[in-house]
Amino acid sequence: MNFFIDTADIDEIRAAYEMGLVDGVTTNPTLIKKAGKDHEKTIREISALVPGPISVETLSETAEGMLEEAREYVTWGNNIVIKIVMTAEGMKAVRALSEQGVKTNVTVTFSPLQALVAAKAGATYISPFVGRLDDIGHVGMDVISQIRTIYDQYDFETQILVASVRHLTHVLESALMGADVVTVPGKVLMQMLNHPLTDKGIATFLQDAKQWQKEPA
Ligand code: G3P
Repeated sequence: MNFFIDTADIDEIRAAYEMGLVDGVTTNPTLIKKAGKDHEKTIREISALVPGPISVETLSETAEGMLEEAREYVTWGNNIVIKIVMTAEGMKAVRALSEQGVKTNVTVTFSPLQALVAAKAGATYISPFVGRLDDIGHVGMDVISQIRTIYDQYDFETQILVASVRHLTHVLESALMGADVVTVPGKVLMQMLNHPLTDKGIATFLQDAKQWQKEPA
């Protein structure tokens, strides 16, 4: 299972990367805006730091425009994945990029049928937004389970990349359901390390060790 980090904040990426927690990075226009720096500069910086796949989102509404953007973005690093929204034009672009050997990530998706369409088009990754489904009273993780069943049944190679992750239960269920990748905000990634019994156990060990530790001179 791969962990991607869902941010364009270079400090946040570096901190998690140094702990071996970052297999790749996903960005989108909102995350680039939040990071507050130039788009190209930010992506180049991330790509130089993290060897794994870096998703960069296209903004065009036509397949032709998306392909033109993709041609530019792949020059920003040797690990760029082109992120494309789930539309008819988007699927045309995914098919063309797949034939050219360019990796794609189909984004803003919410249903197993959209995932089936993306796989047929040759997408490398499908990104279902589980948190946004939860927000409107659905159970986002049910979609992940359904996509897993469909992809396994027909041996699709498209990887399930769980996105819009809000909390640790999303991460745990992604692992239990066999999602290929989960892209996690930095804050949630760090929360995975925590357990109150770990804190308590470390405090006890340090307290007990004081018996033989020398006082500093
Ligand atoms: O990568 C984009 C996706 O993770 C969006 O998350 O929190 O804006 O729904 P969110």
